[in-house]
Amino acid sequence: MKQTEGQQYNSLTKTVSKIVDGEDASRDEKLQQICELLAENVEVFDWVGFYLVDPDADRELVLGPYVGEETDHTRIPFGKGICGQAAETNETFVVQDVSQEDNYLACSVHVQAEIVVPIKKNGEFVAELDIDSHTKDSMTEGHRKVLEKVCELVSPLF
Ligand code: SME
Repeated sequence: MKQTEGQQYNSLTKTVSKIVDGEDASRDEKLQQICELLAENVEVFDWVGFYLVDPDADRELVLGPYVGEETDHTRIPFGKGICGQAAETNETFVVQDVSQEDNYLACSVHVQAEIVVPIKKNGEFVAELDIDSHTKDSMTEGHRKVLEKVCELVSPLF
């Protein structure tokens, strides 16, 4: 029987917990597994990746593990693009139609919608989960909830 959306999200967050708690993998291997899990299980997620605060730079993000097309945006200053704006506000940023955004960095011409969710450690912004979709208007409230939960669960890795 097909899972309801709620059941699917529940099983996703359970799997994320297991990945986070695993003993044999490094932090980056765990983040990579989480990218693969999300990209494989949610049809509209076409690019899934983590950007991390670079401790050696001044307010700059560096690309971490990801799944999807290669991107030119391997470093993003705070404030630039959707990713940089989420880094500055420390809040989830949902864009249903990227063509309507002025402050946007195109990863590929196929991308139509994007969600960026901050990862906080003791309230401080340490990284973010960035997801692109080739489908306009595809980021639901359910996606936001499950991704915010995923970002809470991965926080201890930082
Ligand atoms: N679109 C992002 C840049 C990162 S790529 O999508 C992977 C932005 O506007 O910040």
